[in-house]
Amino acid sequence: MNDDEDIGRALPERGLPAERVLGDVRALRKGDRPTHGGRLFAYVYDPAVPGLDELAAAAHAECAHVNGLDPTAFPSLLAMENALVGAASRLLGGGTGTTAPDVVGSVTSGGTESLILAVKAARDARPDITAPRIAVPVTAHAAFAKAAHYLRVTLDPVPVDPVTLRPSVAAVAAAIGPDTVLVACSAPSYAHGVVDPVAGIASVAAEAGARCHVDACFGGWTLPWLRRLGVPVPPFDFAVAGVTSISVDLHKYAYAPKGVSVLLHREPALRAPQFFAYADWPGYTMVNPVIASTRSGGPIAAAYATLRHLGEDGYLRLAAATRDAVVGLADAVGGTGGLRLLAEPESTVVCFTSTDPGLDLFVLVDELTARGWHTQPQLAYGDLPASVHLTVTAAVAPRVAEFGPDLADAVAAARAAGPVGLPAELAALAATLSPDALTPELVAGLAAALGLGPAAGPGGSAPGAIVNALLDAAPPALRERLLVEFVGLLQRPTY
Ligand SMILES: Cc1ncc(COP(=O)(O)O)c(C=O)c1O
Repeated sequence: MNDDEDIGRALPERGLPAERVLGDVRALRKGDRPTHGGRLFAYVYDPAVPGLDELAAAAHAECAHVNGLDPTAFPSLLAMENALVGAASRLLGGGTGTTAPDVVGSVTSGGTESLILAVKAARDARPDITAPRIAVPVTAHAAFAKAAHYLRVTLDPVPVDPVTLRPSVAAVAAAIGPDTVLVACSAPSYAHGVVDPVAGIASVAAEAGARCHVDACFGGWTLPWLRRLGVPVPPFDFAVAGVTSISVDLHKYAYAPKGVSVLLHREPALRAPQFFAYADWPGYTMVNPVIASTRSGGPIAAAYATLRHLGEDGYLRLAAATRDAVVGLADAVGGTGGLRLLAEPESTVVCFTSTDPGLDLFVLVDELTARGWHTQPQLAYGDLPASVHLTVTAAVAPRVAEFGPDLADAVAAARAAGPVGLPAELAALAATLSPDALTPELVAGLAAALGLGPAAGPGGSAPGAIVNALLDAAPPALRERLLVEFVGLLQRPTY
């Protein structure tokens, strides 16, 4: 093999034929988790609708080189964005009726961008507040913390009840002060799939003159369909007074390819401070509704095609299949000794924990992986035990019957293997090490001992039980530092 044939080389001296290059991409993909087939319970959203991938890919290709930088240059993109915002608004309590609020919105690249912009809009609407703060339940998505960090806004975490996994309205009220510009809540939370008491939270936010953002990135495209199917769904959208903005990700349960979320505001004046405009340079006057400036039309066109192809009837059918799958998986968990549902499933998440000290969840996750089920371990946090998270999508429905027996088998194997034995020195390190004391040498040594680092790159395996056990034993600040260092080791150029 000459250098140019090396798959780790993006820029060969002599270009390679298209077929060959595509083959390389496919070869690289072989080490990935399975995006289709209903056995991966995180990262991907698969409706298992024949032909949908091809349609979305064709629409994406049609618009991949269209630039959202200037909506007047590419009216096609503006039309598709407005259509997506309209669909999300109508689903979430906006619309055209005389009583419906005059909702406006923007298409962003994902949930994180939507949340950052919700925080930015709230912050910039209050220039009189010099040290703005946001009140956020600890179960809300980490992207709020990222927004606070990027925007230099102080995050006031609101504790949640360890049984209901929701904040009480009183706890939210207690976290609101005169400098609070935004109060957040989830519909539902990612980790446990439970809907916060949105009406109460929005009411105390409004009383304090703060905005209230409902993070429906995860569930905003499922809760309305579930409600239509008769599932009890508490009020969470613009029908609730005091809700000022809502985010919903189309690349999650709208089953669009990655790169599309919608941020909605109850009225145009609330959206205005989200925009950024700059004319004080000799180039084009820049006006950006979202963080990115140049934006590909690909994801927007793919989302537009996906929504139009599936339609309301399609989403209703997919929500019903997902709901059946959730019930089936939850029954399987409930029927397996040593496991307990952490929350009664009320949306599209199944989350469980271990009730048996001899059954280590992180070992169980590895055993499930060995059986072709890719679940997501969640570390212990505060009063909350470690848990296993399943994001359930429609593609899981035909697989449900296979899950119960494999789960029972994996539990038996995890019990037989016993809890992961974290070497005493690692346990001591996790308990006592200050994040600032982590040296590159220490990190490199740890990574080598744990089998992480570049050697575990393409085709390598995901972190196993021992890594999760180490992180679980460490406080959050050390978890963050360790993971930053580990990912830094993975992200190294290949030449
Ligand atoms: C509730 C919630 N909010 C925000 C996000 C962040 O979305 P993204 O990963 O698209 O940035 C997620 C992602 O899972 C989520 O579940």
